[in-house]
Amino acid sequence: MDAVYQLSDLRKEYGARTILDIAALEIHAGEIFALVGPSGAGKSTLLRLLNFLEPPSSGRIVYRAQTLNGNVPIETRRQVTTVFQRPVLLRATVRANVAYGLALRGERADRRVDEMLERVGLQSLAHAFAHKLSGGEMQRVALARALVIDPQVLLLDEPTANLDPYNVGLIEQIVREHNRARGTTVVLITHNVFQAKRLANRVGLMLGGRLVEVQATPAFFDAPRDPRTAAFVRGEMVY
Ligand SMILES: Nc1ncnc2c1ncn2[C@@H]1O[C@H](COP(=O)(O)OP(=O)(O)OP(=O)(O)O)[C@@H](O)[C@H]1O
Ligand SMILES: [Mg+2]
Repeated sequence: MDAVYQLSDLRKEYGARTILDIAALEIHAGEIFALVGPSGAGKSTLLRLLNFLEPPSSGRIVYRAQTLNGNVPIETRRQVTTVFQRPVLLRATVRANVAYGLALRGERADRRVDEMLERVGLQSLAHAFAHKLSGGEMQRVALARALVIDPQVLLLDEPTANLDPYNVGLIEQIVREHNRARGTTVVLITHNVFQAKRLANRVGLMLGGRLVEVQATPAFFDAPRDPRTAAFVRGEMVY
């Protein structure tokens, strides 16, 4: 199995607080890896390290066999795209927002933008102002903006938080289809264990900055090794 990321002894500290402490984690090429865990566990912090937005305090991130020590080449950064927990959209049309992903990479907006709008079901809203959309529509714009550049790695931070079941279903379908069609590696952060079960090949539980358990999805749910995983998947973990 090809590894896209290999993390070892990875730590992130803010002041005196250790927010992340990951002994080892591999993300495999082409998989959907779900990261679940309570609020404050360090999930978004890990995603910022995977997106090279922040360097680790110590430890190693190997990305496609390249060890990255602070200096991440632009070509490498461009392979990885994130949809953030609270996506920021331009005060412009839906189409302009999706085209922006391409423009950032010096590429022209073309029929890829229209194809992507169709894929996420927003073609009829192409000329609407993005900041006037519903939450579900905005999340689909953010996803379309990320996918239009066809990234090697897609990092999703709670892409369906606060959405209704219809929009959750749409977004899950778009992610699944893109992963299958393009072989995009996906790291999905979610509070929702059912979403992890529906989408992921493997699931990791994070608590207090540490990975409690990483398993293939069936084993994670049916045969968890750690009692905290068992409690989490049964919905009995109080946090
Ligand atoms: N830039 C920062 N400076 C100081 N502390 C931070 C910083 N970013 C995050 N933290 C702290 O690190 C901890 C983990 O935050 P993080 O956002 O990674 O959690 P999370 O698992 O994504 O939570 P949620 O599910 O609520 O989004 C929190 O206690 C947070 O306050
Ligand atoms: Mg978060």
